[in-house]
Amino acid sequence: MSDIKVPFIDLQQRYQEEKEELLACVERVLESGHLVMTPELGALEEKVAAYAGIKHCIGLNSGTDALMMALMALGIGRGDEVITSPISFVATIGSIAHIGATPVFADVREDQNIDPAEIEKKITPKTKAIMPVHWTGRIADMDAIMDIAERHNLMVVEDSAQTMGSYYKGRHGGTFGQANGISCHPLKNLNAIGDGGFLLTDDDKVMEKVRLYRNHGLESRDNCVLFGVNSRLDVLNAEVLSFRLDRLKSVIERRRANVNLYRKMITAEQVFIPPCQPHEENSFVMFLTQCDDRDGLQAHLTEKGIQSLVYYGTPLHLHPAAAKLGFGRGDLPKAEAQCERVLALPHHQNLSEDQISYVAEAVNEFYAGK
Ligand SMILES: Cc1ncc(COP(=O)(O)O)c(C=O)c1O
Repeated sequence: MSDIKVPFIDLQQRYQEEKEELLACVERVLESGHLVMTPELGALEEKVAAYAGIKHCIGLNSGTDALMMALMALGIGRGDEVITSPISFVATIGSIAHIGATPVFADVREDQNIDPAEIEKKITPKTKAIMPVHWTGRIADMDAIMDIAERHNLMVVEDSAQTMGSYYKGRHGGTFGQANGISCHPLKNLNAIGDGGFLLTDDDKVMEKVRLYRNHGLESRDNCVLFGVNSRLDVLNAEVLSFRLDRLKSVIERRRANVNLYRKMITAEQVFIPPCQPHEENSFVMFLTQCDDRDGLQAHLTEKGIQSLVYYGTPLHLHPAAAKLGFGRGDLPKAEAQCERVLALPHHQNLSEDQISYVAEAVNEFYAGK
């Protein structure tokens, strides 16, 4: 393999760009001597809630915890079914399974998001909720999903892990369902130094429960009112995320501009890039394409020093851990076909036009004459 000319991500580059402010956050927090549950956390929560346009945000230690606590706080548990997408990271179904409920899969559309028509087919008397995943930052068809939920009296918990800064008809992702989870994993657009997450909700009762639950169920230092866990977003990350939230719009603008360049420059018809609908503003946490001879293309890009990743090669229902859910190969044909074709190209806000052009030329060159 030749030297890396276009890296997949840019975390070190981002650090250099933000070094002064990040180190100032570290210094402020360490000098204060207060590392957990300080007013800085509350301030960040209010800032995130205002940004998203929702009543409450609760800072937690991951997006996975946010999803689990959202389900739990809504009273979903053993014996309940939650309909979700097979195209996601395993945390989607892990969160459902961990609270004792059963994930049920509905196939996806060509944009890799859950197909509302397929959701309707999967509803049973045990169905309690729908968990759409807004894959890559593209919001699922929430009008149709909320309509189904209303007609069948179901709750909605959005897996909005990848959704910070994404909008659907002008409304921020993670604000449609009753309780929703956002991830601040380092590969997300609003990223912590390590893990972090937010639960977003308009529901005061959910907010009260989750605030207690994330801090051992402690109402005060000497008064435990329910048995909880430790899932507090730490204060250093609260400071870092607050600083990064101020820059998020510009980060997303740069990412969108890069995707637009890719769209213009990749001309090979063997590469499908799901189009953006007029009503959506995708924050493009990842840039996924669906390609003929995906593995051949990936090998060609590697030769050229371009890092790419298969994101993901296995739909959720075909993981060994999901075997007991009763879904097999052939049950979700669209998701399965996409997993064989999907390839994430290098995508971050610090890509240069020259790098994008180099990647696009390599892609076009691979298919030339085929
Ligand atoms: C779609 C999706 N769901 C859930 C998660 C879990 O989030 P976290 O890694 O913060 O626990 C992630 C991210 O990793 C994700 O991309």
